[in-house]
Order: sequence, then structure tokens, then C-alpha cells
Amino acid sequence: MIYAALKSIGAYVPEKVLTNEDFEKFLDTSDEWITKRTGIKERHIAADDELTSDMGVEAAKIAIHRAGLKINDIDMIVCATISPDYLCMPSTACVIASKLGRTNVAAFDISAACTGFIYAMSIAKAFIESKAKKNVLIVGAEKLSAIVDYSDRSTCVLFGDGAGAAVISATNKKSDAIADVHISADGNYGDLLMTPGCGVKNPCSQHAIEEKLCTMKMKGNETFKIAVKTLTSDVTNILNDNDVQTKDIKHFIPHQANYRIIKAVGDALKMTSEQVVLTVSKYGNTSSASIPMAMNDIWESGRLKKGDTLLLDAFGGGLTWGSALLPFAGESRQ
Ligand SMILES: CC(C)(COP(=O)(O)OP(=O)(O)OC[C@H]1O[C@@H](n2cnc3c(N)ncnc32)[C@H](O)[C@@H]1OP(=O)(O)O)[C@@H](O)C(=O)NCCC(=O)NCCS
Repeated sequence: MIYAALKSIGAYVPEKVLTNEDFEKFLDTSDEWITKRTGIKERHIAADDELTSDMGVEAAKIAIHRAGLKINDIDMIVCATISPDYLCMPSTACVIASKLGRTNVAAFDISAACTGFIYAMSIAKAFIESKAKKNVLIVGAEKLSAIVDYSDRSTCVLFGDGAGAAVISATNKKSDAIADVHISADGNYGDLLMTPGCGVKNPCSQHAIEEKLCTMKMKGNETFKIAVKTLTSDVTNILNDNDVQTKDIKHFIPHQANYRIIKAVGDALKMTSEQVVLTVSKYGNTSSASIPMAMNDIWESGRLKKGDTLLLDAFGGGLTWGSALLPFAGESRQ
């Protein structure tokens, strides 16, 4: 029997930091409001000439190295992003493959917003278990600063840039296997979180530009309530399905959108503060990159060890949501 295992994690965070105090200089907002309502203190912003693919490449190089592999060992690249280098083509995964020097490889993007990394993990698992692929690179990379309206105080303070990547490899060791991945969606709530313009419905035009239709629009309050409910029930389902209890989880890594959402879900599941991984204060919401960036943080700080049980949980535009239950099958940091 062939299983899929998480062999490594890597991340890239751009240099420039945008603090809450920086927003106070050009927006009717305050550090106090942002901190109290979201838990975010700062976020990183990519340089003008730094693309989503560039950040994805940096995260990918680290993940491939930590997996003990060479780029030619990778036989599929899946990139989850809502801020691709190009609207339609080439895919960011193809650009990443090219920048990594890998040709003749399966490479494609997926669009599942903040749940993208978990969707990518589910695809990698399926390809590996069906023996079609052996080493899949999954990337979550976002330059959200390029699709944020910096005059809309209810959204722009939330988002940041960054990338995370992981290598999922074939193994015959059941104890290393990704136990389960749940992915789901309800398109009836698509209007809660969307970029209305620059697709086929509202093509790029003077009107779309003037109305800022190509930037993210969110009904924050409604999204918040559905997020808490959906994340909690999704995690409960995956734990029940696999006969695992909250106390068996070493690290609960939820999508980092808002401290209050994470706290509400953590409390509902009776997670201790040691179990819940929190990076939202320093990165903000980096959409598909948020879970691998958080995972990389605990690996780099030495908290994430080989064999630790991980529970991942995400929610985002679509609406989409998903969760994953797995051991960390890579090497601990030396
Ligand atoms: C966006 C969010 C932080 C707003 O917090 P909230 O408590 O719901 O606040 P509301 O949207 O109800 O707005 C309350 C007030 O704060 C104001 N406000 C919004 N953004 C503000 C800001 N940056 N600074 C100061 N005031 C702000 C609003 O205008 C509103 O003012 P009003 O009462 O005079 O109309 C919160 O709804 C949220 O995090 N939602 C979910 C986000 C999310 O997870 N999205 C992604 C899923 S992947």
C-alpha cells in the first residue's frame, strides 16, 4: 500500500513590514481598532517587482531542500493562489516550475481562496495514493497587496503577502501517512468575499478600474459568523471520522484570518493555548499561504517535531473550507 506523507515545509516572507501605525497615517483607523477586532499588529508587503511566483519559488526551494530532494525529483507542482502572476495564463505553477528550472513536469494552479493549501494537499494525496506521482510540491503564495483596495479600511488592514510550500511524498509507512483531508464548498455564499471585476462577468475596463472592481470586497461580519460555525463543525467531523480526540492533537493550525475567529473555534473545540498555532499578529491574513507559513514558523522555532499530530483547518472565499489530519513526517529542526 502506498501512502502520502508530509515530508517538509518552507516559507518566504517579504522584507517590508506594514504596521497598524503605518495605516493610521493615511486611513481613518487605529492600531487599537485593528488589534482589538483582528489581533493583527503588522503584515509583510512584497516589493513592487516581487511577484507571487518569486515568493512561491523561495518557499519551494526551502521545502525541497528540507525534504532532501532535488528539483528533478518533483513530479508535480500545484500552486494555490488568488493573486496569480497572470489572470488566465500561464499559471503561477508553470512560472514557478520555470524559475526552479524544472521542465516536463505536471504544473497547475487551483483556486480555492484561503482553503487553497488544503485543497492542494488533498490533490497531492490523491495523486500519490493512486501511484500517479511520487513527490508533489504544493505551494500557497499570495501577493494580496496587489488586489487590495487601500482606501477600504474594512479589508485592507487584514491582508498581507507571503508564501509557503510543502513536499508530499509517497511512502509505505502507514504511521507517516496523511490520515484524512476534507474539502468542501458552498457557492451560494460567493458574494460574501469576492473580486467582482477583471473576470468575464465584469471585464477589465475603465469602469472596472474606476470602481476598483478588481480588488477584494468582503462582507466581514457575515463572513465572520459563518467562518466560526463552519470551521468548528468541519474539525469536529474530521476528528470523529478518524476516531481522534482534541487532546491527541499536538498542533492545531487554523487559517490565520482573525484572532477572534481562531479563539472562538479553539474554545469550542476545547483546545489549549499550547495547541493552537497563532501567527496572525505578525503576518495578517495571507490566504492560501497562511497555513504553510504558520507551520513553517513552528518548524523553525523547533516546536514542530517529527511524528507530531497536526490538525489543519481553513475557510475562505467561494465559500470553501477544509481540514486535514496528519503526522509531520519530515525531520525535526537540528
Ligand atoms: C472585518 C472584521 C475585522 C470587521 O470586524 P467587525 O467586528 O465585524 O466590524 P464591522 O464590520 O461590523 O464594523 C464595525 C464598525 O467598524 C468600522 N470599521 C471597519 N473597519 C475599520 C477599521 N479598519 N478601522 C476602524 N473602524 C473600522 C466599520 O465601518 C463599522 O463602523 P459603523 O459601526 O460606524 O458602521 C471582521 O468582520 C472579520 O474579521 N471578518 C471575517 C474576516 C475573514 O475572516 N475573512 C476572510 C475569510 S478567509
